Amino acid sequence: MAMLSVENLNIRFSTKRGVLQAVHEVSFSLEAGEVLGIVGESGCGKSITNLALMGLLPTTATVSATKMNFDGEELLDISEKRRRKLRGKKISMIFQDPMSALNPSFSVGQQIDASLKVHGIKGKSKRRAVALELLAKVGITDGAIRLKNYPHELSGGMCQRVMIALSLALRPKLLIADEPTTALDVTIQAQILKLLVDLQKDFNMGMIFVTHDLGVVASVADKIMVMYAGEVVEMGTAQQVLSSPAHPYTKALLASLPESYEDKAAGSRQALPTISGMVPDLINRASGCQLYPRCGQSEGSCETTKVGLVELADGRRVRCLSVGEKR
Ligand SMILES: Nc1ncnc2c1ncn2[C@@H]1O[C@H](COP(=O)(O)OP(=O)(O)OP(=O)(O)O)[C@@H](O)[C@H]1O
Ligand SMILES: [Mg+2]
Repeated sequence: MAMLSVENLNIRFSTKRGVLQAVHEVSFSLEAGEVLGIVGESGCGKSITNLALMGLLPTTATVSATKMNFDGEELLDISEKRRRKLRGKKISMIFQDPMSALNPSFSVGQQIDASLKVHGIKGKSKRRAVALELLAKVGITDGAIRLKNYPHELSGGMCQRVMIALSLALRPKLLIADEPTTALDVTIQAQILKLLVDLQKDFNMGMIFVTHDLGVVASVADKIMVMYAGEVVEMGTAQQVLSSPAHPYTKALLASLPESYEDKAAGSRQALPTISGMVPDLINRASGCQLYPRCGQSEGSCETTKVGLVELADGRRVRCLSVGEKR
């Protein structure tokens, strides 16, 4: 059985305007040591899918799934106490903005120490040794000095290294990295990305890597899940999705990437895809294809026909009427 197996995940929010279906029937799985890239425009449900795994959604959210199994445990059935134990110990998450994820009132040393203590590592000197070892692992060589620093005394890249050290403290089986490099300068982005990939291999962790940037995901992921309006529109190996995208949305995302990596290095920063049109209203979801109004390949029937995921001959799954018909 896969280390992580999610089937038919639905996330709804009650809002003043009505019920907002933010994630709709999302299924995926992950093996130990495997990297799943999740890509899609802003608001498509990448973060909340992962927050559901962490059990960190606000109380206005309703989460349901036929299966959300991690390492033999059914996440929707376990107690909040057990959830807290899993967080950090078996599943860790790092976020886009490391500065706000760290507590400004405590030094780096205090924060790592507290995390190790919560998870039962006894003895202050033992914890200090572990903390220094962790900092070295994330490329911080002057660890003894850094332990005394407060978050505001660190650069963005250094903060993200500390966050990664914190998230790895208990050797999680699954690391969720939600846009971990987006807030950083281009050169630092590349360093942090390399660090994450090296650590993922080193620790043989499963990793979910969330990004807007298909260029980034190409160098990290084994398989890719493309999301649109809270749904999976295409899922396959990185090779399949990037070199022969089947869904019109994946094609549009790829087409909107900058010409080359040199362009990026020259300072265009983040490759935010720009596809004309707006993401749909998730409260009044259309009955047919969610992409219909923005899709260059749509036909009349796409507007109202419910479109399911179809498995192609090469094993990838695609949610598009035209692709389904071509099979
Ligand atoms: N607390 C909330 N209350 C109501 N709706 C929410 C809430 N949080 C998220 N949503 C809805 O869920 C959708 C998905 O949000 P999510 O944060 O997962 O997007 P995302 O794909 O991570 O986007 P980004 O790339 O900007 O981080 C949003 O468009 C929004 O409609
Ligand atoms: Mg997000």
